[in-house]
Order: sequence, then C-alpha cells, then structure tokens
Amino acid sequence: MKSYVRFLTFTLVLPILIFTVLLLVPDVTYSAITGVCSTCHTMHNSFQGQPMAKYSNGTSKPTPNPVLLITDCIGCHSGPVGDKSTYGAPIVYHTSNPGGTGPGKTLAGGDFYWVAQSGGDRKGHNVAGLANQDTLLGFTPPGWDPNATAGTKHVVAPSGWTQQLTCYGTYGCHGWSDGINYGLKGHHSNLSGALTSSDIGNASSVGASYRFLLGIWGYESSDWQWNATSATHNEYYGVNGNTNYSNKHTISYLCAECHGVFHSQTGGSSPWFRHPTDIVLPGTGEYANYNNGSGYSLASPVARPAIGSSSSSTVTPGDASTSNGAIVMCLSCHRAHGSEYDSILRWEYSNATQAGCKVCHTSK
Ligand code: HEC
Ligand code: HEC
Ligand code: HEC
Ligand code: HEC
Ligand code: HEC
Repeated sequence: MKSYVRFLTFTLVLPILIFTVLLLVPDVTYSAITGVCSTCHTMHNSFQGQPMAKYSNGTSKPTPNPVLLITDCIGCHSGPVGDKSTYGAPIVYHTSNPGGTGPGKTLAGGDFYWVAQSGGDRKGHNVAGLANQDTLLGFTPPGWDPNATAGTKHVVAPSGWTQQLTCYGTYGCHGWSDGINYGLKGHHSNLSGALTSSDIGNASSVGASYRFLLGIWGYESSDWQWNATSATHNEYYGVNGNTNYSNKHTISYLCAECHGVFHSQTGGSSPWFRHPTDIVLPGTGEYANYNNGSGYSLASPVARPAIGSSSSSTVTPGDASTSNGAIVMCLSCHRAHGSEYDSILRWEYSNATQAGCKVCHTSK
C-alpha cells in the first residue's frame, strides 16, 4: 500500500505539481521546442543509406551539421510565407517578397529577403549564407571599435573582421563566442516574457537573454510581433545617458558591440553631431507629443528604462525610470535584420514626408 502511494506520488502527483508550478510562474514559460527529436536532429546523417541533413535551401547535404542538426539556422528560420517555418521556427528570411515590414508581413527584426536579392546590400545585414559580402561596406561594421564595449563576454571578432558576419558566435549577434558549444545553446533552455536577469558570460544564460542576444534585456512578445499592436509588442531596454555603455544590457549596447559609439551620445548635448541614442525623450517641447499622444508607435518605437511583466501602449516622454518611459534606441529608426529601405531603416528617409522622424519630432 505504502509503495503504491509512493508510486502514485512520484508518477502522478509530483509531475502534476511541478507542471502546475511552472504554469503559475509569471512570465517565465518554457521553450516552445516541442515535437519529436527527429524533426530537428539526425543521429548519423544517414537513413536507408541516404543523407538526412539538408542545406538551408532544402537540398540534400552529405556532411552532417553541428549538434546533429538536420539543417542550419537559415534552413530552420526561413520559409515562403507566414510567421513560422515547417520546423515551427520564427521566419526571419522569407523566400518570397513579404511586401514590406511590420505586423502580418514580417517579424519584429524585419526580414533578410531584400538583402538576399542581388543589389540589396544596403537593405540588411549581409549574413553569410544569406547574402554575399557587402560590396560597399566590406566585412567591417561601420564604427567598429572593440574598446567601446570592452569587457563584453560576447567577444565579437577579437582580431578584426577577416570574414563575413554570421548569425551567431564570434562574428555574429546571437549566442556567444564558443565554437565548442556551437556558439548558441539556447533552444532547449529558452525562457520568454520579461528577461532582465541573465548572467553575462554564463553559457547557460543564452536562453535567458532577450532573443538569444547574450546579456541583453527585454520583454519578448510571444508571436515575435507578427500580430503586434500598440499594446502588444516586444519591449526593449534602454538607459538614459548610457554614454560609455557602462550598462551592458541595453539593445543599443548589442549594436555597439559591433558599431562602437556610432550614433551614441557623443558630444553629450545639443547641438548634436550624431543622432543621440540611449537618451530620454524629453517631456517638453515637440517631444511631449510623441506619436501625437497615441502611445507606443510600431513605426518609431522607444526603449524602456525598466522592463515590465507585460508590454504597454503607454509612452510617457520625460520618464527615464519606469516601464512606461521613453528612451531613443538604435531600433527607433533601424530594423535589426533587414528592411525594404536603405541603411536598414524602418521607413523611407529620402522621402520628403519623413513620417518616421516626425513621430518624435512632432513640430518639424
Ligand atoms: C524544433 C527543433 C528541435 C527539436 C524538436 C529538438 N531539438 Fe534538440 N536542438 C535543437 C537546436 C536548434 C539545437 C542547437 C542548440 C541551440 O542552438 O540552442 C539543439 C540542441 C540539442 C542538444 C545539445 C545541447 C543543447 O541544449 O544545446 C541536445 C542534447 C538535444 N538538442 C537533444 C534533443 C532531444 C533529445 C530532442 C527530443 C526530445 C530534441 N533535441 C528535439 C532543436 C531541436
Ligand atoms: C532544427 C531547427 C532549428 C535550427 C537549426 C535553429 N533554430 Fe532557432 N528556433 C527553432 C525553433 C523551433 C524556434 C522556436 C522555439 C523557441 O522559441 O524556442 C527557434 C527560435 C529561435 C530564436 C528565438 C528565441 C526567442 O527568444 O523567441 C532565435 C533568436 C533563434 N532561434 C536563433 C537561431 C540561430 C542563431 C540558429 C543557428 C545557430 C538557430 N536558431 C538554429 C528552430 C531552429
Ligand atoms: C556582430 C556584429 C554586428 C552587430 C551586433 C550589429 N551589426 Fe550592424 N553591421 C555589421 C556589419 C559587419 C555591417 C557591414 C556589412 C553589412 O551590411 O552586413 C553592418 C552594417 C549595418 C548597417 C548598414 C547597412 C548598409 O548596408 O547600409 C546598419 C544600419 C546597421 N548595421 C545597424 C545595426 C543595428 C541597428 C544593430 C543593432 C540592432 C546592429 N547593426 C548590430 C555587424 C553588426
Ligand atoms: C524615437 C524618437 C526620435 C526619432 C524617431 C527621431 N529623433 Fe531626432 N532626436 C530625438 C531626441 C530625443 C533628440 C535629442 C533632443 C535633445 O537635445 O534633448 C533628437 C535630436 C535630433 C537632432 C539634433 C537637434 C539638436 O539640437 O542638435 C536632429 C537634427 C534630429 N534629431 C533629426 C532626426 C531625424 C532626421 C530623424 C529621422 C531620420 C529623427 N531625428 C528621428 C528623438 C528622435
Ligand atoms: C534617429 C534615427 C536613428 C537612430 C536612433 C540610429 N540611426 Fe543609424 N542611421 C540613421 C539614418 C537616417 C541613417 C542613414 C545615413 C545617415 O543619414 O546618416 C543611418 C545609418 C546607419 C548606419 C550606416 C552607416 C554607413 O556608413 O552606411 C549604421 C551602421 C547605423 N546607422 C547604425 C546605428 C546604430 C548602431 C544605432 C544605435 C547606436 C543607430 N544607427 C541609431 C538613423 C538612425
């Protein structure tokens, strides 16, 4: 009888308890990785004598991939239409024209579609395997200055840029610089919701960083902004006056790991020589009327000085401390992956209306 109770406790009651606790933990839900292992992994890269591995375009690949994976980052994260690929992975490279960036067209980072087309160099990050070397910029990121972000554990290109940008690892944005661990190790430990406490340098924390960007904080919208509204979206972390990047958790810090002090607060006050980032949107003058008072703008979003447990439509110019605050960031004007516009901008810059700038510069 006793052993029967113990059996029940271990096989039924405990798992149900643990599961319930997991469900109750606010904003920390476990990875969306579900399904049989063989969807994504192949043990020997051989089935009935034929290779199981695939190149990103889906054709058969005779050599196996790291971590026994069936395909590479691009292979899983691309598809013709929609938000997710046949692997259930968020699509960052649509193989047919998504018709623009934004909800219902692309995910938050934009799309690699345009840069992957010939002549699209200025319309995205030229990631190896997706696009050739950027004919105008070459390998080295504009503004590259490893001293600007000295001490980062996400060591980016320690001895200069001798090769093309990659999705992850030493010359990439996601994961961290450790070839042995495939430079990523996030998928099976992926947390979602508000991520603010990741431990830089700890390999196991990639999954606890915003979108596998080591050490970066943020709130992850569960659909990667496919159905985003002013109230439902990612939240990015920003710090007012982070001039020397002493805070290493902001989204602008991620960009700075490759782009140095590009567009940072050099100079420190008006007149500006480069457009400032990681600066609070003033609560006075034209800025007080951000987005004509309609709250968070998906066209020209702001980062937050604090990451809340949900996303918010409220934007309070002048607020440099709460989750409704407003901080200018690189992504106020740029997409992370790619867009239909030059300089990976969120909107047309040469266009006379410059609607995106006017979300903040409301009287210009
Ligand atoms: C939807 C795709 C997918 C499925 C299904 C999947 N994996 Fe993985 N797995 C990955 C990816 C991608 C990696 C590479 C590590 C990373 O990038 O985070 C990985 C890495 C691993 C690793 C290396 C350690 C680690 O955490 O990085 C092991 C072990 C592993 N998977 C085992 C399994 C087992 C066992 C199953 C089935 C129960 C499974 N995987 C199902 C995608 C998947
Ligand atoms: C075998 C398929 C597979 C491969 C290979 C793969 N991924 Fe994923 N990836 C997935 C799936 C499925 C998800 C969605 C589930 C999740 O969020 O954990 C995902 C989610 C992600 C996310 C979003 C995490 C979040 O916070 O929502 C990022 C970033 C990512 N992958 C990057 C990469 C990079 C970089 C590589 C190459 C090193 C890669 N993936 C390789 C299947 C894959
Ligand atoms: C791991 C390094 C790395 C990180 C991190 C990075 N970039 Fe880049 N970026 C590059 C490289 C390399 C180039 C030049 C080649 C190219 O276009 O891909 C570049 C080019 C650019 C360009 C010019 C594109 C063109 O062709 O005109 C913009 C704009 C840009 N990055 C913005 C950003 C923003 C915004 C972020 C943060 C979200 C960011 N980058 C993060 C490496 C990086
Ligand atoms: C997310 C809000 C935001 C967006 C979008 C934005 N700006 Fe700004 N801009 C600011 C803030 C904040 C300042 C600094 C105000 C201050 O001096 O305190 C600023 C400063 C400037 C200045 C310098 C003014 C001076 O006193 O030196 C110029 C010029 C400028 N912006 C032009 C632009 C242009 C052009 C665009 C579109 C490409 C743009 N801005 C988009 C928020 C924004
Ligand atoms: C206020 C809008 C705005 C913000 C904020 C902003 N950028 Fe830009 N960025 C632009 C515009 C507009 C261009 C096009 C070139 C120009 O006019 O300077 C550009 C161009 C670039 C380029 C291409 C330079 C080249 O040589 O082709 C890079 C790289 C870049 N930005 C990186 C960043 C990074 C990194 C951040 C954050 C630290 C950032 N930008 C913040 C508006 C912005």
